[in-house]
Amino acid sequence: MCGIVAYVGHREAAPLIIKGLKRLEYRGYDSAGIALLDENQLNIYKKKGKVAELENILKDKKLHAKTGIGHTRWATHGEPNDVNAHPHYSHSETLAIIHNGIIENYAAIKQVLINKGYTFESATDTEVLIKFIEDIKKHNACSTEEAVRLALNEVVGAYAIVIIDEENPDQLIAARKGSPLVIGIGENEYFFASDATPIIEYTKEVVYLDDFEIAVVKNGKLNIRNLQNQEKDAFIETIELELEAIEKGGYEHFMLKEIFEQPRSIADCLRGRISSENAHIQLGGISNHLEKLSKAKRIVFVACGTSWHAGLVGEYLFEELARINVEVEYASEFRYRNPIIKEGDFVIAISQSGETADTLAALELAKSRGATILGICNVVGSSIARLTDAGVYTHAGPEIGVASTKAFTAQVTVLALMAIATAHSKGTINEDEYRRLIIELESIPDKVADILTQAEEIKDISKLFTFASNFIFLGRGVNFPVALEGALKLKEISYIHAEGYPAAEMKHGPIALIDEDMPVVFIATKDSSYEKVVSNIQEVKARKGRVIAVVSKGDKDIKGMVDFAIEVPMAHEMLQPLLTVIPLQLLSYYIAVLRGRNVDQPRNLAKSVTVE
Ligand code: AGP
Ligand code: GLU
Repeated sequence: MCGIVAYVGHREAAPLIIKGLKRLEYRGYDSAGIALLDENQLNIYKKKGKVAELENILKDKKLHAKTGIGHTRWATHGEPNDVNAHPHYSHSETLAIIHNGIIENYAAIKQVLINKGYTFESATDTEVLIKFIEDIKKHNACSTEEAVRLALNEVVGAYAIVIIDEENPDQLIAARKGSPLVIGIGENEYFFASDATPIIEYTKEVVYLDDFEIAVVKNGKLNIRNLQNQEKDAFIETIELELEAIEKGGYEHFMLKEIFEQPRSIADCLRGRISSENAHIQLGGISNHLEKLSKAKRIVFVACGTSWHAGLVGEYLFEELARINVEVEYASEFRYRNPIIKEGDFVIAISQSGETADTLAALELAKSRGATILGICNVVGSSIARLTDAGVYTHAGPEIGVASTKAFTAQVTVLALMAIATAHSKGTINEDEYRRLIIELESIPDKVADILTQAEEIKDISKLFTFASNFIFLGRGVNFPVALEGALKLKEISYIHAEGYPAAEMKHGPIALIDEDMPVVFIATKDSSYEKVVSNIQEVKARKGRVIAVVSKGDKDIKGMVDFAIEVPMAHEMLQPLLTVIPLQLLSYYIAVLRGRNVDQPRNLAKSVTVE
């Protein structure tokens, strides 16, 4: 999610906040805005686009505010535009809020407020929250901070919020749950931000707010309480990191940060989509299409690159679980092949950016020929998202590294949710399988976190293969697309030639490549094709190939056969790609770094290929 910056103190708030928002620019965003308390007059300025657009609308204004809140948005509810940009006013326009995160039960709260006569300008969950807070304030005749506390006890979801109050010009109220919020402590001045980047040049004394805590700065004092109104001591820490390092959250590259974000990004992708009461999948974005999808004669995934690999995983998921015929097409080929589209076909575009020209064109073609089109995108309001009849956002947050990592696992997570929900709707899986798959899916974030603890071991392995000239990646079944993804990751950031194959294909030619100089990466986890993969490993070892194997935790047999084994926790076969891809991401990353590559911006590549 994107950026929050807020300030109360003796400096001019506007330039400080704008500069701070620019420091968060690396996080990517789609709109920016600021609310300033100028001589007790609360004014909001906000604009779709980059912070520079916001700066433009401020440049000829005489601003003398000492209190302000600013925001860069990564849209989750409501497309990127001026109206949906933050901050948002309360009904009386004496309060304003900025928010990072997702209020899962916003629709229910919004309905209650509408029934009370409230109206809404934006489509965001955030506007609902601030109007809910003010409604509580009015109804209980209480302070704003008490209204915030009462409201947050009703809210489900993730938030980092800061609220400014026209009637209390020297006050800011902040709270967090699931989204980060740092408080900078200066000399008679306080800073709030999503990370320390906007704060560090003013003070290195910070407090990291914890979940379910509310911080109130008033009359130059900081008070922290939890949602039960119990006072908490402010634990002040001194930041050691330098600015440059902090921008990447302490990681050397955005790609490594995004690899390590995957426990959270997968959790964010699942958030609000599995109801806790009855463990039922609810995909609001396609709820009107699920019935029709379960009756589809064919599903065609159109995508490029890593997203195409996610589509291949989707093929295994939908065919195995929902028994629906699936085809996976390179969008660039589909769009020029005069494809046959039949009544009842679903064409689903998978795209992190939502702007890939070939994928967009393929979707337009499918729509023109009568297919029902859906989108699986990471960028809200992107062209592909806007073109489709419906879709499911991956909620992976901004992916800055050109090599896609967390977007891939988020795409596979969405595909798993869709396939399981479709299979349940169709009756091709029974209630027990449905519940088991849901429980398995919910366990993935912790299992990914477990794999990430082996990063150092994987780094050590990468040192032995830094100067390889070629790599082969092999997998079977649902892990075959993961082999392709591992090969793509390696070649696009290290520039080593790498190929992915179905493991059984080796004997149809590629095995001629095997010798002691050819590293071969196998995905050899315990699944329905395990014994076959073991045979393929032996075929490679018989020809002196060096084998790195991704294996199931505790599999001692295979460890004795291969040169290096990386363990991943057991998981339902259909969900294994969410785990088996992680070691391959890390292996490629460390090899590329050791080869001195520009990992975040590899040569010749762009994050979004908006040309043909
Ligand atoms: C993957 O690491 C590459 N960045 C590239 O293959 C990418 O997946 C492809 O260009 C598709 O992009 P999209 O998901 O934004 O459509
Ligand atoms: N859910 C809010 C919105 O869509 C906040 C998104 C964010 O974290 O930037 O406006």
